[in-house]
Amino acid sequence: MSLNAIAQKLMEPGKGILAADESEPTIEKRFAKINLPSTLELRRDYREMLFRSSHAMTNYISGVILTEETLKQEAADGTPFRAILADEDVIPGIKVDRGAFPMPGESGEKITEGLDGLRQRLEEYARLGAGFAKWRAVITINDIAPTRNNIRANAHALARYAILCQEAGIVPVVEPEVVGDGDPGNHSLERCAQVTGDVLENVFKELRLAGVDLSGMLLKPNMVLPGVNSRDRPSVDDIAQRTYEVLREQVPAAVPGIAFLSGGQTDEEATAHLSAINKIQNKPWPITFSYGRALQNVALRLWAGRRENFAQAQAAFTHRAKMNSLAASGEWTP
Ligand code: 13P
Repeated sequence: MSLNAIAQKLMEPGKGILAADESEPTIEKRFAKINLPSTLELRRDYREMLFRSSHAMTNYISGVILTEETLKQEAADGTPFRAILADEDVIPGIKVDRGAFPMPGESGEKITEGLDGLRQRLEEYARLGAGFAKWRAVITINDIAPTRNNIRANAHALARYAILCQEAGIVPVVEPEVVGDGDPGNHSLERCAQVTGDVLENVFKELRLAGVDLSGMLLKPNMVLPGVNSRDRPSVDDIAQRTYEVLREQVPAAVPGIAFLSGGQTDEEATAHLSAINKIQNKPWPITFSYGRALQNVALRLWAGRRENFAQAQAAFTHRAKMNSLAASGEWTP
C-alpha cells in the first residue's frame, strides 16, 4: 500500500487510533495507580484485553500504536497480537522514539532521543508489518520556555524521523505535544494557541526541508487548552474554535489527516472537544482521535490485573471507543 493509502485508511470515517504504546516507565506508573507491578505477563494480559475487544476494534479503531515488545508479542494462547489485529482489519503501528530527556541548559525543557540506528529498526518493523510509526516531541511552557533552540531541535528530530519512516514505507505520525502543566500565569488558552502555532510552523518548515511527502504522514497535535493550573476557563466551543484556527493557519491541506492526543483531559472532555472541532464545517483535513488515557482509563481500572474481568473492562473500552467514533464525525452529544 502507498503511504497515502495507509494514511487514508487510518483516517477512515468514524474510526481513530488507539495509543497503547506506553513505554515501560509509563505503563509502570499506570499499573502502580491500581497497585499492580509492571510484569511482562500483566502487560501482555492488559493489551490482550484491549486488542480482543473485537467490536470496538473492528468498528471504531483503524490503527493501534504498539511498543516493540507488544509488536513481537503473543496473546496467552500463543496467537501473535499482529494476527489478532489483522483479523480485525486494524493497522499495527510502532512507537519508535526512545523518550524525552532533559535538554542541556536551565530551561527545564526536553528533547526526544532515538535517531541513532533508527533506519535499521524501521526496516525490521516494516518486515514485522508495521504500517505507521509515532515519535513524540514534548514542548514545555514556563517563564522562559519554550526556547527557540528547543523548538528547532525537536522539529528537526521529528523531520529526520519522518523521512526515515517514509524511506522504509512506514507512515510517520508526527507528534509535537505542547504539554499542559505550565504555571497559571504563563499558560492561558491564548499562550497555548501562540506556542502551538509557533511549534507547528517550525515542524512543517523542517518537514519540507527534509523532503517529507506531506501526503504520506499524519499529524498528532495537542488541542489548544489552558494549562492544568490555569484560571482560564474557556468553553468547549472556544477550545474547539481556537484549536481549529491554529491548525488551519499552520497545517497544509496536503496532510491527509489530524489525530489528536488526549494529553490528560478527562475522558468526556477529550470526546466533547473532538466532537466540537468536528462540527466545524469545510475543514481541509479529516480530524480524529489518537488517544491513550482517554480510551483506557476506565478499562484499566475495571481490568485490575485479572483475566476474569476482561468482559467488563472491554465493555468500558468499547463505550469510550464508540463515543470517540461519534465525536470523530461531530455527532457526539453529552
Ligand atoms: P494520551 O492520549 O494519553 O495523551 O496519549 C497519547 C499518546 O500517544 C501520547 O504520546
